Amino acid sequence: MTPKLHIRETYTNPHSFHIFYSHKEKNNFHHIPQELRQSLEIKARQEEFSGKKDELLHLEQVTKEGILHIIVVGLGEKTKSDERITRDQTIKAIQLARKVKANEVGIHIKNILKKTQHVVEGVLLGDYSFDTFKSIEHKKKHPHISDMYLVTSGSSETDNLMKKGINAAHANILTRDLVNMPGSHVYPEVLAEQAKKIEKKSNGMVSVQILNEEECKKLGMGSFLCVGQGSDKKSVFIVLHYKGKGLKKCALVGKSVTFDTGGLSLKPGDSMMDMKLDMAGGATILGIFEYLAAQRPEILAFSDVYGVLPAAENMPSGKAIRPGDIVTAMNGKTIEVLNTDAEGRLVLADALVYSEEALKADYIIDFATLTGACTVALGHDLAGLFTNNDQFENIYNAYAKKAGDDYWRMPLFEAYSKHMKSSVADLKNIGGGRYGGAITAAMFLKEFVARAQWMHIDIAGPAHHEKSGATGWGVLSVIYFLEHQKKI
Ligand code: BES
Ligand code: ZN
Ligand code: ZN
Repeated sequence: MTPKLHIRETYTNPHSFHIFYSHKEKNNFHHIPQELRQSLEIKARQEEFSGKKDELLHLEQVTKEGILHIIVVGLGEKTKSDERITRDQTIKAIQLARKVKANEVGIHIKNILKKTQHVVEGVLLGDYSFDTFKSIEHKKKHPHISDMYLVTSGSSETDNLMKKGINAAHANILTRDLVNMPGSHVYPEVLAEQAKKIEKKSNGMVSVQILNEEECKKLGMGSFLCVGQGSDKKSVFIVLHYKGKGLKKCALVGKSVTFDTGGLSLKPGDSMMDMKLDMAGGATILGIFEYLAAQRPEILAFSDVYGVLPAAENMPSGKAIRPGDIVTAMNGKTIEVLNTDAEGRLVLADALVYSEEALKADYIIDFATLTGACTVALGHDLAGLFTNNDQFENIYNAYAKKAGDDYWRMPLFEAYSKHMKSSVADLKNIGGGRYGGAITAAMFLKEFVARAQWMHIDIAGPAHHEKSGATGWGVLSVIYFLEHQKKI
């Protein structure tokens, strides 16, 4: 259950949790009610709080009615663009509210109305935890916040920003839930059902097409289909569509391996443990379409936005693909599958070809938990971004910054392509040894992009954090990017 959000002119509950915002400036408590200001100023002096972008001031007062918590959230310099700071700092404040088991929270935003959207995102994401499978006792011990009061005199602009914030946060939460859910519950057909739900709630704005194995076979998707052939779960190829008003077509492709055992090239136990996350790319795309279905924004950047999810489960069995087998992708290229654990590039190969050939995409972004090597290189806080078009990345970069979806640019290094040459087929699916694995994987994908402007984003690291689980990395940045105000 996500908390209910209300807009209120005033909110003075004396045994509750109140959040105020302050920039790093002189007299930074001027907007906080007189009766609180003095205690806050003393506390601020004690703790050397000055409104910097990573500071929170927490004042607790025992009153007749109970405990009053006042938080002042530092936002840093007023002049800096601070969508991310607003969201991240709000998340921290709300996590504190949950820790002290606040039932209601007042969020005082009169002085920062333009930031309403990012406050709302922070509020809902701060309250998030994945407790679907926890006992009632646990949920009672760690309650969610039930009501949040945005304290401001409402205006239609604030209402709109609040709605955007709610839809963006819900989109991110859908992605996290899908990634956090075990492989027993999220298999290819479940992703298809989720896409159908999105279509239904969109009131005609999102349309969904599900291709079954037979249809994929007719299209020549031998590379995609070989990954799921060992599993009892049927593979499905999911295509979503949203109409825009721009000139160019954009396809958002997401690796959707609902569980990656490695197949016959079986992963050792420790490496397999987290492999329910291997559909995080596809979950990112579903989150984005959840937003489009609810918000229904006018998209000026593109004429069409597609979501493409090649969904399969990678299992070993008597029917599974063997190391050494050769498959043919939709563009006619043959691939020698030497390692069945390098399956992400196999499902993506056909999804990329489909995006260009069937959907005529001019722009493609793919999201994939593709290589452990990318995590070795960049850790859990950065995705690896590969692109054949600097301009495309440049535009996306601004929105990734706003969203806090950090990435590092990685090279499409031609010389490594030769590692993917096979002696018996056009390509093989693993390169020479362990080193540079994120790059060789990207070079493999590049073989399946003929003319599109393309970004490949390896999210193996940031899709998921060890303690807190799924992150929804990428959802917010793409949502903001799609609302880019100019044609691309
Ligand atoms: N799904 C994994 C990549 C992965 C690893 C994602 C760890 C998230 C966390 C992918 O399918 C895989 O197994 N890749 C292999 C490639 C290798 C066989 C060339 C890898 O990274 O070891
Ligand atoms: Zn794998
Ligand atoms: Zn995988």
